[in-house]
Amino acid sequence: MAEENQNLRTPIVCVMGHVDHGKTTLLDQIRGTAIVKGEAGAITQHIGATEVPIDVIVEKCGDKRLADKFIVPGLLFIDTPGHHAFTTLRSRGGSLADLAVVVVDINEGFKPQTIESLNILKRFKTPFIVVTNKIDRILGWKVHEGESFLSTYNKQTPEVQGLFEQKFYDVIGHLYEQGFSADRFDRVTDFQKTLGVIPISGLTGEGIPDVLMILLGLAQRFLESSLQYDINGPGVGTVLEVKDEKGLGTTIDVILYDGTLKKGDTVVIGRLGEPIVTKVRALLKPRELSEIRYESKFQPIQEVAAAAGVKISAPDIDDALAGAPIISATPETLDAVIEKVKSEIDDVQIQTDTDGVMIKADTIGSLEAMVHEFKKANIQIQKAEVGDITKRDIMEASTINDPKHSVILAFNIKVNPDAQEMLDETLDLRMFRNVRVFKNDVIYRILDEYQDFVKEQEE
Ligand code: GTP
Ligand code: MG
Repeated sequence: MAEENQNLRTPIVCVMGHVDHGKTTLLDQIRGTAIVKGEAGAITQHIGATEVPIDVIVEKCGDKRLADKFIVPGLLFIDTPGHHAFTTLRSRGGSLADLAVVVVDINEGFKPQTIESLNILKRFKTPFIVVTNKIDRILGWKVHEGESFLSTYNKQTPEVQGLFEQKFYDVIGHLYEQGFSADRFDRVTDFQKTLGVIPISGLTGEGIPDVLMILLGLAQRFLESSLQYDINGPGVGTVLEVKDEKGLGTTIDVILYDGTLKKGDTVVIGRLGEPIVTKVRALLKPRELSEIRYESKFQPIQEVAAAAGVKISAPDIDDALAGAPIISATPETLDAVIEKVKSEIDDVQIQTDTDGVMIKADTIGSLEAMVHEFKKANIQIQKAEVGDITKRDIMEASTINDPKHSVILAFNIKVNPDAQEMLDETLDLRMFRNVRVFKNDVIYRILDEYQDFVKEQEE
């Protein structure tokens, strides 16, 4: 590999798309064939992410001469349900995901979460590709495991090719409707102007070499400058999830995208109000499958360098926020770091009106995405907050007289049981009868339902 690799970190690739369209299968395939080829050790499993080193990718692409062409050390794939990962991986005014893959089931076509993923990517100007998955399900398709798309396509009968074209161009048509000029990847000359679409099967590995190849190409062409980093600098990351782990208490899963984090480091973590200042008690990574006889699923490590996914155990992190920054600090930098983390959180909460609806979401990033969409639709927002719906929220909303505003719009969260009781009581007691909750895991559904409701109110 070329010398200049040294200061480029691994690009973070977010895998997005509608439920069941095959995100996890795609990643399993990338991992699985590597295991078969005896390269299992090379692929590193992180918390919430999988790292595929450049050598494995080059091997899969089947052309060894490529090894010198690429300067990134590999790709770090992040897989969580829907677009949760992407909206969580925020940084000021943008997303931390360097690249994204939107997975579409070629037989099912576009779904609400597909469109939502595309809109989020468009807004953040993240370079991405679309894969039309499950081509092996096309009637009559003959599987050629692990081959590139063109290689397997050319071996199909004209009837099968015809069926494929029909479904494939349906997806291309939908992309046009969403404002994207798109084409099959091998016909794209400028990936900045035209969106590349790669037909694949996550199950059989067909088209996977093309996916890896195009992703590397994108990283190479568009990201070189944004991937420069200082491996000796302070660790900087985003909280992906806050989780209770048996025997460990509350832990946070973090995607580290800059610097190095060490056990014992002082870290500042975002929450509502003043940031948390604490010390890293343990840095944990998943154990290899071969080590499963150990009690714990995790293995302690001394330090971790970006880009990586890591679980952190530390005191006082119960109210850390998903989507919030985590930055390590020294006694000299502590005050400045606290200020920085605080202002990032404050940035999200401000732009509210004196009158309007209440918005709640699971992470800072998704809250931001919601606020953005609702403002675009000229809906006033009085309060925007991360977290499940509480009793207090219901009470607050019930004091608002305008029925259009005594609503709670909830994305990807739960209604706490005691809050639900209050809502259920509305029929009998009529105490909180005016509070309406619109809850969904697709932002546009919430928006649609709310707008229908407003129309009803105005009639
Ligand atoms: P969520 O994480 O729930 O959003 O789903 P996902 O997008 O990760 O989908 P997943 O990979 O779990 O796949 C859903 C189902 O589709 C599974 O039963 C897979 O075996 C199947 N599947 C995924 N990819 C393919 C494919 O290329 N071909 C076929 N035939 N089945 C596939
Ligand atoms: Mg999955």
